[in-house]
Amino acid sequence: MINPFKESAESSLYQHKNTVKFIVLLIAAIIVVVSIYYNNFIVNHLKSREKQSIELFARATEFLVQQGDEANVTFINEYIIKTNVTIPVILTDQVGEPTGAFRNLDIDESKSSEELLQLLREEVAEMKEENEPIPIVYRNSLGEIENFEYIYYQNSDLLRQLNYYPYIQLAIILLFAGLTYLAFSYSRTAEQNRVWVGLAKETAHQLGTPLSSLMAWLEYLQADERTQGHEAVAEMGKDVEKLLMITERFSNIGSVPVLESTDVYEVIQQSVSYLQRRISTKVKFTISTVGKDIEAQINRPLFNWVIENLCKNAVDAMSGIGQIDIRIMRGSGQFIIIDITDNGKGMSKANAKKVFQPGFTTKKRGWGLGLTLAKRIIENYHRGRIFVKHTEPDEGSTFRIMLRA
Ligand SMILES: Nc1ncnc2c1ncn2[C@@H]1O[C@H](COP(=O)(O)OP(=O)(O)OP(=O)(O)O)[C@@H](O)[C@H]1O
Ligand SMILES: [Mg+2]
Repeated sequence: MINPFKESAESSLYQHKNTVKFIVLLIAAIIVVVSIYYNNFIVNHLKSREKQSIELFARATEFLVQQGDEANVTFINEYIIKTNVTIPVILTDQVGEPTGAFRNLDIDESKSSEELLQLLREEVAEMKEENEPIPIVYRNSLGEIENFEYIYYQNSDLLRQLNYYPYIQLAIILLFAGLTYLAFSYSRTAEQNRVWVGLAKETAHQLGTPLSSLMAWLEYLQADERTQGHEAVAEMGKDVEKLLMITERFSNIGSVPVLESTDVYEVIQQSVSYLQRRISTKVKFTISTVGKDIEAQINRPLFNWVIENLCKNAVDAMSGIGQIDIRIMRGSGQFIIIDITDNGKGMSKANAKKVFQPGFTTKKRGWGLGLTLAKRIIENYHRGRIFVKHTEPDEGSTFRIMLRA
């Protein structure tokens, strides 16, 4: 048999997927770094401009105090001092005590002067953290320093907003990308589900008709004196039974399966004894349990299928001879744990990560669907978990199933 998607699945699809993922992440990272870097550049630029305008403000104030010229005074007042409508500033004396003069602060002017002063002090403390204050030096006519004051200032609202802008923008983009990804992966999963379910339903349906006819013929042969008790009839009976089992599995996959509280040991025992008749007698099974009455929510035909797939893989991993140990335990909380350990050839760590991917196989005649199906049955139909618990090349592997009690 040729596996139609083995080649593409293993070599191109999965490798491609990882490369594409890597490239997308890389581009995203570059965009993030560049946009934050560029924004920082703009912010720093704007910051130094704001500082310049406060310096100008300070120099203008010095000039105002020393100059008597009416025309100049008006010019400076109108065009330099009053044009600062964005940068919050507070004037203080030498020791940093507010003089009461301030600009562009959101302060209620109707407050008492004591309250106002207190507010200004708090603002000054904050401003001190952000920027070094700029001194205004007053000199007398001889050029000696007479007095000085400080201008404390804060970044303008624009600068503040610009500081946060890239983070807000990135957060929104991230949220949007996340939602889109979720929506797509949801619709993809839904599509896969429809394919699985539809195909299984159709298969069960198609098998149904010839099967019921076969069963009728078998009954006829069993009743007929000439063929009654013939070896061929008995063998045909077994095959029909097997076909019935397969049909039942497909019809369960194709519908919402009924879960029933079932004795785990008993189901596994049944699966194993069925399998044992069909494989080499040199493969030994042991089933151990911490108690005989461990029950889990199970759909029998589907769960049997899982055990069968896992055991078949274990047998394939051995060269005809070996040991398969199945252990049933109670996990923490609501879970029942089933460990299936073989002493076969094991897997590499890289392969162990891929075994549940559809189409992944290392076998010449494998389809790479056994574990995909097992995962589907356990996780979608039983709301449990299945994973590779442990594996070591040349030593063996342990698969763990967790079911709801
Ligand atoms: N117990 C195990 N020991 C070692 N390798 C394993 C074991 N179980 C699974 N594998 C590896 O995982 C691969 C995928 O297993 P899976 O059952 O999904 O597909 P398959 O057995 O190759 O084909 P099929 O669809 O016929 O079952 C196998 O080809 C094998 O390489
Ligand atoms: Mg298999």
